[in-house]
Amino acid sequence: MRLLILLGAPGSGKGTQAKSLAERLGLVHLSTGDILREEVRRGTQLGNQANQHMNAGELVPDDLILDMIKTKLVFDSMNRGFIFDGFPRTVTQAEGLGWLADEVGAGIDRVISLAVDDEVIVGRLSARSSCGVCGAIYNDVSNPPSRAGFCDNDDAALIRRSDDSEAVVRNRLTVYYQQTKPLEEYYSRRGLLLKVDGHGTTDQILTRILTSLAASGTNDRTQV
Ligand code: AP5
Ligand code: MG
Repeated sequence: MRLLILLGAPGSGKGTQAKSLAERLGLVHLSTGDILREEVRRGTQLGNQANQHMNAGELVPDDLILDMIKTKLVFDSMNRGFIFDGFPRTVTQAEGLGWLADEVGAGIDRVISLAVDDEVIVGRLSARSSCGVCGAIYNDVSNPPSRAGFCDNDDAALIRRSDDSEAVVRNRLTVYYQQTKPLEEYYSRRGLLLKVDGHGTTDQILTRILTSLAASGTNDRTQV
């Protein structure tokens, strides 16, 4: 089973690129943020535990995240592989993923880190909306829906995330630099890191990622 990781700050485009990459490479897109938001919506025990952390822009505790990932990996272990979006986010989570991958006989192929300037991120997130039904991601400026406020795929009303207020975004960025950015060094030491410029159009960035995967020599199944 193949495992790719998308690293990057909030709003760097992980969700947007992960969706395209999953389609291109035949992998399952696993976003811990999307899973947690669904748990919150359903009012489950995990959702109730996660909610206050998410609203404040803090990370959900590592043990809850690793239990959640373990269930998904074991349940879906017959899949061709996963692209992780927003996981791992701490060194503890990265170590946990290493052990879980060993258990299911998988290896981490590559870790792609999207680099985007903070002020670009704040601008992108203040203009984001998404579909509560299919998860499609829009942007008032760079990728507006055909009909304002409604999803192109299913016509459902678009929603704004409660953690996209500027104050919470700035805290999410601080948390990212303190707890997640060190993973670049962690995976670089293991020879797995690919840094990709996350500015430009979504198509340009997708091409950069696919080119960089192909050049890294692990991606013979990718067609750029
Ligand atoms: P999560 O949902 O993962 O949020 P995040 O990491 O803050 O990232 P975002 O989803 O906000 O941004 P993105 O990088 O996916 O960008 P997107 O493609 O949407 O996590 C939310 C919370 O859950 C966390 O704060 C934490 O509490 C908890 N959590 C989740 N995982 C956890 C974990 N592993 N451990 C602990 N806690 C966890 O793009 C953003 C906008 O920009 C969109 O409007 C998009 O249309 C637009 N856009 C994208 N690309 C471009 C481009 N090239 N040009 C112009 N606009 C663009
Ligand atoms: Mg996302």
